[in-house]
Amino acid sequence: MPDSVTIIDNRTGERYELPVVYGTYPTYGAAIPAANLRTIKQSEDDFGLMTYDPGYTNTASCKSSITFIDGERGILRYCGYPIEELAGSRSFLEVAYLLLEGELPDGNQLTDWTWHVTHHTIIHEKIKRFMDGFRYDAHPMGMLVSTVAALSTFYPESRQIQDPDVRHKQIVRLIAKMPTIAAFAYRYSAGMPYAYPDNDLSYTGNFLNMMYRSTETGYKPDPVLERALDVLFVLHADHEQNCSTSTMRAVGSSHADPYVAVAAACAALYGPLHGGANERVLRMLEEIGNVKEVPKYVERVKKGEFRLMGFGHRVYKNYDPRAKILRELAEQVFAVTGKNPLIDIAVELERIALEDEYFVSRKLYPNVDFYSGIIYQAMGFPTAMFPVLFAIARTAGWLAQWQEMLVDEDQRIARPRQVYTGADERHVD
Ligand code: CMC
Repeated sequence: MPDSVTIIDNRTGERYELPVVYGTYPTYGAAIPAANLRTIKQSEDDFGLMTYDPGYTNTASCKSSITFIDGERGILRYCGYPIEELAGSRSFLEVAYLLLEGELPDGNQLTDWTWHVTHHTIIHEKIKRFMDGFRYDAHPMGMLVSTVAALSTFYPESRQIQDPDVRHKQIVRLIAKMPTIAAFAYRYSAGMPYAYPDNDLSYTGNFLNMMYRSTETGYKPDPVLERALDVLFVLHADHEQNCSTSTMRAVGSSHADPYVAVAAACAALYGPLHGGANERVLRMLEEIGNVKEVPKYVERVKKGEFRLMGFGHRVYKNYDPRAKILRELAEQVFAVTGKNPLIDIAVELERIALEDEYFVSRKLYPNVDFYSGIIYQAMGFPTAMFPVLFAIARTAGWLAQWQEMLVDEDQRIARPRQVYTGADERHVD
């Protein structure tokens, strides 16, 4: 069978044979290199055909071997490993290593990787002072975006993006410092003194320490909550070419340094349709307030007054596998923290929505943000911190995708085309 498609241009009657390229699964990832469409012309001076795809709903912007999603079947794998297996048995740092290196670390590699990340968690004292400049009520996500961008000025060598050693150092720094900046942003808004990292703790244990340590000398995270946060980070670590990752790649494609590229990715994540959705879910559940109010709320969604936050996904047209894991994780967390009463509203909302023709016909299922906020709230995180938590975990994926892009010879500066619909040439009087 030839690996091509034939297109007949009905405008001219010409036939064109265009090659098809494949990924790992020929039935899930076949694509026509879009540049070949340019050969389809009505006349010699015709620019040639482009694809028109707002929101890139059907455009593969890269080849990638990091994350695979089959949205119809609700499958998510990192480097081939099912998300359920990774969440069940591996730590966030192991998964970050997997995304970056393509393989899970062996014992020595993990020790070495963990040591390096642990020993880069401290931020420059001047960064702390930079953070002190924010208004008292600054949103922690705004603080994160700006502070990560500011790191660029502290590490000017990071501009040497073609040097693998320099690149690796910035990757370690970013993964190490994101929790510190995030926790400092929280402490600042809570009016608490910054709590410094503790190298004796795990990645998530240390983050909890920097968030919640009070006057005690040695903070001991609850092991169930420490592990739960680790699972949450594993689930959020990567999700192929989503809005923030595409932003990371787009900014990185101009060869900007990784700090400003991660800041841009954080900014993309901040929006309520992306990583800001978990914050909105919580506000929505609080607004509903009571299980009895759920049917009325669903009716208003169906009338188009607003969207059901935490529902629907561009890629998943089935239950988001991450939401399934989180629903179970919630019970483990509640066993320690006590039940978050919002869970009853969420479960009822899910039950009603999944039986309703509106949601069924549009294949709208709970996504990762539907249950994550309820767990974060039970663990004591203020709502405004939810997208920040997402950003900490997703930094691993952003950096893995950025690194992959830089060594991919097919990649060029991101520069889409447009279909111009404005005025034809005209002249001022
Ligand atoms: N509530 C009600 N209706 C919805 C929802 C929703 N949450 N999501 C989509 N629809 C409807 C939409 O109105 C449209 O209906 P119609 O065909 O009658 O016009 C149809 O479903 C298709 O929607 P779409 O906007 O074309 O779908 P999209 O792929 O462009 O949008 C989405 C995906 C995630 C932005 C959207 O589902 C949404 O706004 N969800 C709520 C926000 C949310 O939970 N975001 C988190 C996404 S997962 C984590 C992440 O990526 O950060």
